[in-house]
Amino acid sequence: MKATVYNRYGPPDVLQIRDVEKPVPKDNEVLIEIRAASVNPLDWRLMRGKPLFARLMTGGLRKPKITRPGVDVAGHVEAVGRNVTQFKPGDEVFGVCRGAFAEYACVIEDKLAPKPTNLSFEDAAAVPVAAITALRGLRDKGRIQRGHKVLVDGASGGVGTFAVQIAKSFGAEVTAVCSTRNVDTARSIGADHVIDYTREDFTQSGQRYDLILAANAYHSIFDYRRALSQDGIYVMAGGGGVQILQTMLLGPLLSLIGSKKMRFFIANMNKKDLIFLKDLLEAGKVVPVIDRRYPLSDVAEALRYLEEGHAQGKVVITVEHGNDT
Ligand SMILES: NC(=O)c1ccc[n+]([C@@H]2O[C@H](COP(=O)([O-])OP(=O)(O)OC[C@H]3O[C@@H](n4cnc5c(N)ncnc54)[C@H](OP(=O)(O)O)[C@@H]3O)[C@@H](O)[C@H]2O)c1
Repeated sequence: MKATVYNRYGPPDVLQIRDVEKPVPKDNEVLIEIRAASVNPLDWRLMRGKPLFARLMTGGLRKPKITRPGVDVAGHVEAVGRNVTQFKPGDEVFGVCRGAFAEYACVIEDKLAPKPTNLSFEDAAAVPVAAITALRGLRDKGRIQRGHKVLVDGASGGVGTFAVQIAKSFGAEVTAVCSTRNVDTARSIGADHVIDYTREDFTQSGQRYDLILAANAYHSIFDYRRALSQDGIYVMAGGGGVQILQTMLLGPLLSLIGSKKMRFFIANMNKKDLIFLKDLLEAGKVVPVIDRRYPLSDVAEALRYLEEGHAQGKVVITVEHGNDT
């Protein structure tokens, strides 16, 4: 089978499409014929081995230990391990795995769910990492409630486009922060208010929010804190290196002063949340926003584009198979 492989850290040029052995599922795994995958900032961070934290996380200090990129996946079940009970060959599924930029991959049963019936493979592959991050940030870390004033900073990327829609599905009043070219999209996915960050700095406006989810944080932690209501919660998913350090180091200390909370988190991917999202997707409350599609042969181009930091929604990899008509 064809798979994307890299053996040294570096820019997208380190990626190669190679012929490799088709994997065999372990007892708790499902072998998937991949129809689509999607790219996440995690993919280019692991490929570059930057920041150093990305190397420490995977244990590959000098050379990458993870050599097959790609996490988000959607496709058909081709075979199942002997302990797998919830899937059978032919099922359409989506979830997270290692080595999704390939024709086949083995996926742990608990990281998969049935594909939403109303979604294409491409749309389904856009969902897992970005939408679960948005969901966990809003619901678990941010304690979102109906009627809350929620602001999503970085509302136009993968995490942000899901966050706006998921926050609306919880009954929040949502403000999306994005640049001028994304204002219409933010409105079209349900934002009640849109702030163009090239024209207005929401942290200086005097407006206060019950929950701020920074999909991409580019303000200081003190600015975010100022924009919170009395008992407000700030949750950071991603953004600049300085902002991540600030939130990891200062967040717990600032949370001890007064009643505002400042949190950074790493989302854990699981079947329960995939199924929660499947229901939202099938109800039409959340619709993936796809920016671009690339064939498997152009994974390097897809990562190059995502790394520029201005994707409008998700970037998807489509995988053709010899038996496709
Ligand atoms: N903590 C976790 O578990 C977790 C999980 C997944 C992702 N993440 C992190 O979350 C972050 C977002 O992920 P993603 O998939 O959404 O990335 P992405 O799709 O690459 O984000 C791109 C978007 O960011 C926006 N953006 C760039 N600069 C901005 C600014 N100054 N203010 C507001 N928006 C800005 C861009 O909009 P414009 O073009 O309009 O600027 C673009 O739409 C990444 O850092 C990622 O590593 C964390």
